[in-house]
Amino acid sequence: MERSWHPAVNGSSTAFWVRVLVAVCTLLVAVWAVTSGDSGSPSDASRGAELFRTKFTPEQGLGPLFNERSCSGCHAFPKVGGMGRNGLATVLRVGRLTDAGFDPLVGRGGPFGHSHAVSELGVDCGREAGIPAGANVTSVRNSPQLFGSGLIDAIPDKAIRAGAVARGDGVRGRPNLVRGPDGRKRVGRFGWKANAATLELFVASALRNEIGVTSLLAPAGSRPRGSNRCPGESNGPEIDQDSVAALAAFVAELPPPQSRSSQQAGAVLFRETGCTACHLPALKAGRREVPLYSDLLLHDMGRALDDRVVQGVAGGSEWRTTPLWGLRDRTRLLHDGRATSVEAAILSHGGEAKTARRRFHSLPAAQRRNLIEFLRSL
Ligand code: HEC
Ligand code: HEC
Repeated sequence: MERSWHPAVNGSSTAFWVRVLVAVCTLLVAVWAVTSGDSGSPSDASRGAELFRTKFTPEQGLGPLFNERSCSGCHAFPKVGGMGRNGLATVLRVGRLTDAGFDPLVGRGGPFGHSHAVSELGVDCGREAGIPAGANVTSVRNSPQLFGSGLIDAIPDKAIRAGAVARGDGVRGRPNLVRGPDGRKRVGRFGWKANAATLELFVASALRNEIGVTSLLAPAGSRPRGSNRCPGESNGPEIDQDSVAALAAFVAELPPPQSRSSQQAGAVLFRETGCTACHLPALKAGRREVPLYSDLLLHDMGRALDDRVVQGVAGGSEWRTTPLWGLRDRTRLLHDGRATSVEAAILSHGGEAKTARRRFHSLPAAQRRNLIEFLRSL
């Protein structure tokens, strides 16, 4: 290549220019590595953006069972990376609860129910959508917004663990401990029960669980007994690791919600009512404050929110404190989308949050409005 830039150079100066070129390239690679960090290069993210919108086909690994054909099918409102249409895009987690405990029915069609099968697209292999036989527990889960996921991914485990101390009013969260990508125990932080430790793992699981596309990080499970192999169904990865990483890089770069907060009165009430015991205003990722309004820990939320599903160490009534940033865009609240107002979501709090709920309940109407206005500004 240097020859076309310097057609007249002789041998020794060619060697010099080659060395310069190597040095410049090394420097560029070093700068790229430092600036891109874990979230990949910008071109990864733009490839990821395309994958996020891609409607997978059976040839690309869709199914045999699936809920939607693309990530945007559930994360697109009010903009890409958000929620489902009208704030609601739900999936089903299933299992079987007996005296012996909770069984997620892995290998027998669980732990998910699916709303579609590739047979609807003319690929017939006798696999049926619906709730797996044997399930006696179903849990509806709504899709959250993904804005700021990269920052949540960057919070060190120890910053989350540090919050797991008694905080008065009977509040004491605990981390969900789950397997990280290297098989070691990590602190879970993604999912309603904090059941995934890293963004990349969650993204790989979403590809498999929602779209039916398997990868190294989320391989195919065993087929339900008695079922046939579908055309194109493989035990090996259906998408390569670079694509999973690109998708994760795109999600990591979705910008965090920007607070419009100047609601001082509401902010004070939020603290005094005891909400900040769990909805911690910020966690630290290195030197950066992440204002997510969550401790990312599990809390017992009482009977009304018990879905009887066990994930990692989280029992039926335990949920990850939901980050409240971006709340103003959400129209359906709580893990199953049952609440259509902020007030209703707060009044469903029980268990460790009972005292905070009671204090909120007894606030004069004007103060309640201040508090809700504050939440709506996050
Ligand atoms: C059929 C609807 C649906 C589709 C399609 C879907 N998701 Fe989700 N997503 C959900 C639901 C529901 C949850 C919450 C699941 C839970 O915790 O039980 C979720 C949670 C997430 C989370 C965790 C966010 C957090 O803070 O906890 C990430 C990240 C995510 N999805 C990314 C993706 C990506 C990437 C794709 C495409 C591969 C995708 N999702 C496809 C419904 C969907
Ligand atoms: C003991 C910990 C704890 C306390 C205290 C607490 N919360 Fe929560 N909060 C949670 C958990 C866990 C959830 C998720 C519950 C679910 O979805 O089933 C949640 C969910 C919410 C939601 C719904 C968010 C969404 O997007 O679905 C709102 C709003 C909320 N809390 C506001 C408050 C307010 C206001 C207070 C104080 C009056 C408060 N919380 C006190 C733990 C707590």
